[in-house]
Amino acid sequence: MKHRTIIEPFRIKSVEPIGLSTEAERTRYLAEAHYNPFLLRSRDVIIDLMTDSGTSAMSAHQWAGIMEGDEAYAGSRSWERMQAEVQDLTGMEHVLPTHQGRAAERILYGHLGGPGKVFISNTHFDTTRANIEYTGAIAIDIPIAEGRDPAHEHPFKGNMDVTALEALLRENKGKVGAVILTVTNNSGGGQPVSLANAEAVGRICRGHGVPFLLDCCRIAENSWFIKDREEGMEGVTYRGIAQRMFSLADGAVMSAKKDALVNMGGFLALRDATLAEACINLLIITEGFTTYGGLSGRDMEAIAIGLQEVFDPDYLDYRIKSTTFVGRKLHELGVPLMRPIGGHAVYIDAKALYPHIPPHEYPGQALVCELYRLAGIRSVEIGSVMFGTYRPDGTLQPSAMELVRLAIPRRVYTQSHMEYVAETFEEVMRERSRTRGFRITKEPRFLRHFTAHFEPL
Ligand code: F0G
Repeated sequence: MKHRTIIEPFRIKSVEPIGLSTEAERTRYLAEAHYNPFLLRSRDVIIDLMTDSGTSAMSAHQWAGIMEGDEAYAGSRSWERMQAEVQDLTGMEHVLPTHQGRAAERILYGHLGGPGKVFISNTHFDTTRANIEYTGAIAIDIPIAEGRDPAHEHPFKGNMDVTALEALLRENKGKVGAVILTVTNNSGGGQPVSLANAEAVGRICRGHGVPFLLDCCRIAENSWFIKDREEGMEGVTYRGIAQRMFSLADGAVMSAKKDALVNMGGFLALRDATLAEACINLLIITEGFTTYGGLSGRDMEAIAIGLQEVFDPDYLDYRIKSTTFVGRKLHELGVPLMRPIGGHAVYIDAKALYPHIPPHEYPGQALVCELYRLAGIRSVEIGSVMFGTYRPDGTLQPSAMELVRLAIPRRVYTQSHMEYVAETFEEVMRERSRTRGFRITKEPRFLRHFTAHFEPL
């Protein structure tokens, strides 16, 4: 028999209670947090869909690995395991362990960046952009046109516009620090990048003598889409697809908090010995010695195991299909979504949901606050709060899209949790025309979404 129900391919061995709350309590918590969910206490959240990063449930095998961790300062057994695993997966010789993805970004872009340099990506994730811009360099996003239209159905909406890439490489000859493919494209809706696109990008970069890098934190999820949607890939394993993609690149930056199924960690993998040496110097100064970087032995053990588990076909199939399940339910309710549904998250088009709220009143922030007030669901705005800038006259230059992300932690929530989320949207839709926007009352200069204060209008 072929079942419709997608079951979680694991049993629950250890549980963590969720504290339930009333709407009146949550209304108060929200005001105390200045209407910014980053300032809420996790104990006041019922379903936390703020991020899929560092929120995975580890397996019994990984917890056993934690006990096996070798905490030697130099040359630990756990480092050998992690290094071998990353080398096998990426085919890259030089592996630098870091405490999380952005530490690898800081090291690599700190070295490749600087004033006058240009970086090109399908879409730079916010920490990637910040690390690049912090060096004085410029970060340019060139997703394909379909990737900018939330409602447009396309199998590989994460792809890079290769015509724009050629033009930018010609215009910026001698100035390009690197070309970066983010797989899947997180800020662009968790959308996959095809192998054909990665091949084209790799070829163009080689032709111009420019480094081609992968931001590979969700590469296993990306591989699921390639196997499912790209011609000729049906017979290749998920891991084999990931290996093919790595084989095209000169380096890779990974936040292990995603597809390595751990709560903390990351790495930088490089082919070139000279570049690796420069980065290793920075690693030792700012993260730690080469055989642990920013990690304990036990973390490295869990990463090595997680990188194997994530390519398990039953896990990946459940992972992508359960994200699609939430997306499909919301779509049936008429919630405007980024389509098709991505790998780790469902992205709601808040501009289409609340057409009466203009970008400078932050429609995404309005939805984020509604979801928390109605159900204790924590989500994230990916729109003008996160990416908006100010014009010289002080008015807002809005971001291209006003999205809200429901990111699904790996192996954490069950189908009934997801049904609760979907049910909440029935009320969101009923309240739709009455929902109001926000104004910012306080903000820092960089990455303002983390700490900004808001006031309802
Ligand atoms: N690259 C991508 C594509 C990411 O999604 C993230 C993190 C990073 C780099 C940075 O990694 O957090 O380990 O330093 N994304 C998280 C998120 C924060 O919620 O999407 P990190």
